[in-house]
Amino acid sequence: MKMKLLFASVLLSASALFAQVAKPIEMPYVDYPVEAGDHDEVTQQYCLICHSFGYILNQGKKSRPYWTGTVQKMVNEFKAPIPKEDQQTIINYLVKHYGYESTAQH
Ligand code: HEC
Repeated sequence: MKMKLLFASVLLSASALFAQVAKPIEMPYVDYPVEAGDHDEVTQQYCLICHSFGYILNQGKKSRPYWTGTVQKMVNEFKAPIPKEDQQTIINYLVKHYGYESTAQH
């Protein structure tokens, strides 16, 4: 009796699993606005390899030291394959469109 119950519950939970998989899954499409100009294509080329532009937008306006440190962190810690000469282009783009000129660390 116990075995039968166990078998029935295994079948039941398995069918629940199939029912979930059979449903079409719709992912919301989130289009993060990317500011155009100042070689935005370089920033998009490298910064979208691992994550969306939302990571950049969500920081709010940040200072030059913040963006410099963040780009360096992506390269040194997360191994983003960004050539040195493109790193400066990206930092300038980020400071202009998603930050402000300042020596503050935030
Ligand atoms: C090699 C993969 C990779 C690339 C390329 C990359 N990132 Fe990241 N980024 C990460 C990882 C991993 C995190 C941390 C995610 C987490 O903590 O959830 C992150 C997090 C961030 C954050 C969140 C704040 C923080 O400091 O963790 C920002 C902002 C960011 N990235 C900006 C950038 C910018 C700008 C570029 C282009 C220069 C870039 N990323 C390219 C891997 C990458």
